[in-house]
Amino acid sequence: MTISNLEHRSKSSRTRLGALVLGLGLLSGGTLAATNANAEQAAASQRISRGAYLSRIGACEACHTPPKPSTLGGAAGDLANQQLRANPDWTRYLDPNKKFAGGVPFIIRVTSELHGTVVSRNITPDVATGIGSWSVAEIATAIKTGVRKDGTNLFLIPPHTLYSKMADEDAVALASYLKSLPPVNNAITPRSLPFPVGPLPPSEISPLKVAPERGLARGEYLTSAVVGCVECHSSHVSGGKLSEWTGGMPGSPLVGQFRLGPDLPLLQTERGLAAWPYPGYAILFAPNLSELGRGGPESGVPYSSIESAIRDGIGWSLDDNGRPRLLAHTMLWQFYGDMSNRDTHAVVDVLKRLTYRKGYTGPNLVYFGTDWAKAFEFSFGEAPSAADRAAFGK
Ligand code: HEC
Ligand code: HEC
Repeated sequence: MTISNLEHRSKSSRTRLGALVLGLGLLSGGTLAATNANAEQAAASQRISRGAYLSRIGACEACHTPPKPSTLGGAAGDLANQQLRANPDWTRYLDPNKKFAGGVPFIIRVTSELHGTVVSRNITPDVATGIGSWSVAEIATAIKTGVRKDGTNLFLIPPHTLYSKMADEDAVALASYLKSLPPVNNAITPRSLPFPVGPLPPSEISPLKVAPERGLARGEYLTSAVVGCVECHSSHVSGGKLSEWTGGMPGSPLVGQFRLGPDLPLLQTERGLAAWPYPGYAILFAPNLSELGRGGPESGVPYSSIESAIRDGIGWSLDDNGRPRLLAHTMLWQFYGDMSNRDTHAVVDVLKRLTYRKGYTGPNLVYFGTDWAKAFEFSFGEAPSAADRAAFGK
């Protein structure tokens, strides 16, 4: 396994570092053991903070922390939920007592008759219900290859599909960070899928050991291996081919379009169209970011405006009242707010170098009020079947 190789490699480089420290130690008369332990501790804490950063910009919590259960019932509960919904900070929906403890279900619609559910797992180091008994290398392998400690395969939903391109170093950093979290006991309902889940073809697993640190290469790495930009800002075109960066469009329900709904807090059952909180059912399309690229109608938008869209959630176009437009939380800007200046710049470098291709140009948000079935039909291109209603709890 490439990841255990990496551990060996880093052990041998640690030995080299040890030899260097020994030289210094002899000069200063210090003890080798103490200096070695210090160097190792510093490297470990550096790995954890690198992992914390990657986890933040990778928005792991968006799926691995369940929404807060509503404690208020009746009218008071409704009012509290309305107020929460009016708050643009979507992360307030997340349960502070279940950070990274999983349990968020995703309904997989294979056909109108065939559905399954995959549930985000508990990735805290709880031994009974999480990954407490896994080594860092085992967690890193699961992140990068989708193979669990017990040898079974994960069902990779976006952005997990990107992580096979991650550098070993980053998978190890993320794993080290997860191991450092407080354990949360939270048993996860097993996934139920109407098909077997196979392994990734080895050709899809990148042999990259260390991540590019700067420039365009860094931006390309982040957007293709860690942060899900390209997976959201794309759609499937004829033949199921992915048209990258050209945004969402009707008829491509799996990527590029987001079903918003009022059925939050989600508790343990995602109500289909309600993956994101909203006061009514709506379909939101991710915009065509190639418009910012070469030859695109928005190629003149300056770096600073794009950076502030990514990090602060403030779009450059004005709303109907001439105010700066606040982007929907679906864009995950609450998480990207912590992206470093250098990384944000590198990501915008990638957008600026795209070649413009035309995408969907209709309204970016289509609102259906309380009509779940209409929203469903718009999203999937057909009215919900009885099996759809059962699967989505409607
Ligand atoms: C879109 C939602 C989503 C995001 C974002 C996400 N995950 Fe996951 N993750 C899942 C789901 C769902 C599963 C379970 C898949 C299955 O059971 O087959 C999972 C499984 C895992 C597992 C396997 C745990 C086990 O017990 O097998 C690890 C480790 C993991 N995720 C880490 C991460 C990390 C690290 C990030 C951020 C860099 C992340 N995930 C981001 C949804 C997500
Ligand atoms: C979970 C899906 C998702 C992910 C991941 C995501 N976006 Fe978005 N993005 C959206 C949606 C949806 C919108 C539209 C929001 C709105 O109009 O309110 C958007 C809006 C934007 C905008 C504003 C465009 C405009 O015309 O106003 C930019 C720029 C952008 N995204 C860049 C990025 C970058 C760069 C990344 C990765 C760092 C990224 N997005 C990741 C879904 C996503």
